[in-house]
Amino acid sequence: MVIPTSLPIVDEEMEREVLRVLREEFFVGGQSVEKFEEEFADYIGVDYAVAVSSGTDALVIALRCLGIKGKVVVPPMTFVATVESVVLAGGQPKFADIDKDTWNIDPEEIEKIIDKDVEAIMPVHLYGLPCDMKHILDIANDHGLYIIEDCAQAHGAIYKDKKVGSLGNVGCFSFYSTKNMTVGGNGGMITTNDRKIAEKAKLLREHGGGNFAELVGYNARMNTMNAAFGRVQLRRLNEWNNRRRKLAKLYYQYLRDVRNIKLPVIDDNHVYHLFVIEAEDRDKLREYLRDKGILCGVHYPVAIHELKPYRGYADRSYPNSEYHSKTCLSLPMYPTLREDELKMVCEEIKKFYGEVK
Ligand SMILES: Cc1ncc(COP(=O)(O)O)c(C=O)c1O
Repeated sequence: MVIPTSLPIVDEEMEREVLRVLREEFFVGGQSVEKFEEEFADYIGVDYAVAVSSGTDALVIALRCLGIKGKVVVPPMTFVATVESVVLAGGQPKFADIDKDTWNIDPEEIEKIIDKDVEAIMPVHLYGLPCDMKHILDIANDHGLYIIEDCAQAHGAIYKDKKVGSLGNVGCFSFYSTKNMTVGGNGGMITTNDRKIAEKAKLLREHGGGNFAELVGYNARMNTMNAAFGRVQLRRLNEWNNRRRKLAKLYYQYLRDVRNIKLPVIDDNHVYHLFVIEAEDRDKLREYLRDKGILCGVHYPVAIHELKPYRGYADRSYPNSEYHSKTCLSLPMYPTLREDELKMVCEEIKKFYGEVK
């Protein structure tokens, strides 16, 4: 028996919908894409949603929509696409370290590094926990900065009664296969209340206007089958997120007394895309669990400012991100994870640290 780190769900309705649109609609950008956009905008609580072909495209296009050419504040602890998108769009990343407890970008660190060349902040709601958006919005207002939320890991997460993706100027989602909801492959969504941003995003995703191009754009449209699949997943999202929260509470209950690990924030607005702990002897623990058939992930093994293409953008060290990269371990977390499986994971962790014979 193998327990993976994450596991997407495919049901009969998803399969049926994919086949139906394959027979009835255009393969790319069919009616289901528009319906998915409307339903997603409604779910997030924004006026517009624009479907694209990946979360990375969503980020690049969002930055292009805002005309960013200068510095964008990003955390060094994230998936590489966050920082990559800034460079691809023609801007320069500027790193601000994460908080040592939430593992999200630390607003006080942002304040320390703002200069006249900073144009935007890109908070990442890492692992599904919303960032301290009040503080980040205050900084953005004080300095006249844009906010692009990277919501790739936080579909449905709530910050003070509002969904993430509705708090900044633009929100960017990924529907990659392991996310809290997927389109059965690659896909992304841009959310905004700004009509001009939505219109520009639609141009950019389709070669800047195609045969009547007004901008240099991308081929970043969503496939219709992916949208059809995503529409059904969206209807299941709240139920799945509730299940993730329930599993997170169980992990907390079983692991809270283990001295060798640090647990994540337990919060009802967290959507636990990943259940990440900081662990002593992380690599040995990971290997031990793998031998027992429990597959854990490391998100992420190297802080982005230490990766070759991005070293030049770092002007200091970022100790909390560096520490986290060396100790973080993603335990199995997905809605169909059984409670007895979760308990077994916890027991094995305790055995590894010698707490159970
Ligand atoms: C935080 C973060 N940003 C951006 C992305 C990029 O999304 P995609 O893989 O859909 O391009 C991902 C996911 O892969 C992510 O986790």
